[in-house]
Amino acid sequence: CGIVGILGKHEVSPAILSALKRLEYRGYDSAGIATVNAGVLDRRRAVGKLINLSDTLVHDPLPGRVGIGHTRWATHGGPTVANAHPHRAGKVAVVHNGIIENFRTLREELTAEGAEFQSQTDTETIVQLTSRLLDDGRTPLQAARETLARLDGAFALAFVFDGEDDLMICARRGSPLCIGHGTEEMFLGSDAIALADMTDRITYLEEGDLAVLTRAGAQIFDADGNQTNRPVTRINLDTAQVDKSGHKHFMAKEMAEQPAILKAALGFYSGLDSDTLELPEGIDFARTDRLIMVACGTAYYACQVAKYWFEKYAGLPVELDIASEYRYRDPVLGRDNMALFVSQSGETADTLAALRHVRPHVAQVVSVVNVLTSSIARESDIALPIHAGPEIGVASTKAFTAQLLVLAVLALEAGRARGFLSAEDYARLVEDLRSLPGFMAQALDREGEIERLTKMLSQARDVLFLGRGTMYPMAHEGALKLKEISYIHAEAYAAGELKHGPIALIDSDFPVIVFAPFDGLYDKTVSNMQEVMARQGEVLLISDPAGLKAAGEVPHSLQMPPVPELIAPIVYAVPAQLIAYHTALHRGTDVDQPRNLAKSVTVE
Ligand code: G6P
Repeated sequence: CGIVGILGKHEVSPAILSALKRLEYRGYDSAGIATVNAGVLDRRRAVGKLINLSDTLVHDPLPGRVGIGHTRWATHGGPTVANAHPHRAGKVAVVHNGIIENFRTLREELTAEGAEFQSQTDTETIVQLTSRLLDDGRTPLQAARETLARLDGAFALAFVFDGEDDLMICARRGSPLCIGHGTEEMFLGSDAIALADMTDRITYLEEGDLAVLTRAGAQIFDADGNQTNRPVTRINLDTAQVDKSGHKHFMAKEMAEQPAILKAALGFYSGLDSDTLELPEGIDFARTDRLIMVACGTAYYACQVAKYWFEKYAGLPVELDIASEYRYRDPVLGRDNMALFVSQSGETADTLAALRHVRPHVAQVVSVVNVLTSSIARESDIALPIHAGPEIGVASTKAFTAQLLVLAVLALEAGRARGFLSAEDYARLVEDLRSLPGFMAQALDREGEIERLTKMLSQARDVLFLGRGTMYPMAHEGALKLKEISYIHAEAYAAGELKHGPIALIDSDFPVIVFAPFDGLYDKTVSNMQEVMARQGEVLLISDPAGLKAAGEVPHSLQMPPVPELIAPIVYAVPAQLIAYHTALHRGTDVDQPRNLAKSVTVE
């Protein structure tokens, strides 16, 4: 979910709306705004995308110079107006991101005392509690403090109060929140991106902080209730970056940016002479006896590819898991282990929780992130940026390939630090990595052909992706992209595992996409592809000229440039992305904001 708050000089609804627009990628099930106008608290809410809220405001404007807004990704309670934020009880309204874990107990207690709940959300318990405290004579600050003391869970929230034209109270526990400083104006956002149009002076709240905002400034209290100072940082947010730059979708723009981004990231991770790579100081691979990698979604598939690299190029044992599983296992950790967390947003609640879980037990915590000011970055010993720029399309594209690039740099540097790679092999692999931007551009040039091939896919009910080695996680990423944005059921299998079950599904209505560059595993993968063709499966083979030639007749094929083995999974990500994109276009789905999803999931 996204949170915005403004204490302004003018009417705030329009500015809140445009800030919410920047946050819409965080959730778009419903949205709402509450303001205080000449002492009177009021709100408007609408189901669905922000456009519905802005239509509502056209017919029924919401004046006021102080207000809070929210765009929701539903957790407790479906996307209805009653469940949309801001929630209100009596003299207080709140917007909230995260989950109140003890909401059932609180709800029972409040209901027993006569509170009448209007929604099914956990959030409403917050305002019901605060309202009761206000009625008991507490000041807004006392009421907010006492409410917070009763809440369990991870969240960020902001209150406004009836009768208070110059007050907003906010708190951060587990979910990010930042304050923006203006001239006799103050702003609040769950994400600095939201505030980019209004200010570049930002204060990031720390865990447990509560802040009282007035137009004159912010008073911040730490977790122990002591008044504290948090630094104001100037952020460089090129607002122009958050537009589609002439592309039809953010996803299209972000795919197209990949060659340039990877080139810039390579520049960042290059040594003084162009034959070497360089990592920020302090990453100690020589001492590391095991690498633990944890992530969610697309970032997890990037880790899966990287596992092959760390084993092959650095001889480093790797343990890998998705964050929501990892943190509830009892992983056996060692003092010489390094933990590596990969996250585009740096705010994914599951990944952050896993980080906190391992922190006390391992030698080093390293993260690979797109947002260096994020919680995951700030709680790591070393955070490595991927330099992808803001990614708005919900389906991750450029962040994935940039994550892979940084992970490849890490694997090669681990190989060097551990004396595992010979000087010649290292030099050759660095050269291979340098050729990446050019190959990415060549892969993007295949778009026209992919557009034609996806007509067939857009009719399918199910699609299977196959690959071996690093192409196996690529198959997973391809299937994830396709289901996310086209809503076609897609699965990925290791090519060799097909015969152990899923081959039973194959018939002439079942497209099977095979990623098989002409490498050491090619023959094996192609044998599995033959098994599919023998059962009339509709195969699409994605390979290079040598691979396509060796395969003979196949129903559909897509030719990729011949690429060095190290970078093949990064280059083959491009057809995976373009297949999903064009299939979705043929089906007319909402590419940038697919149903039920959110870009950054800050609940567990
Ligand atoms: C969400 C997004 C995915 C993303 C995952 C992990 O589920 O929809 O696209 O891969 O979160 O996000 P992160 O920001 O941690 O990389």
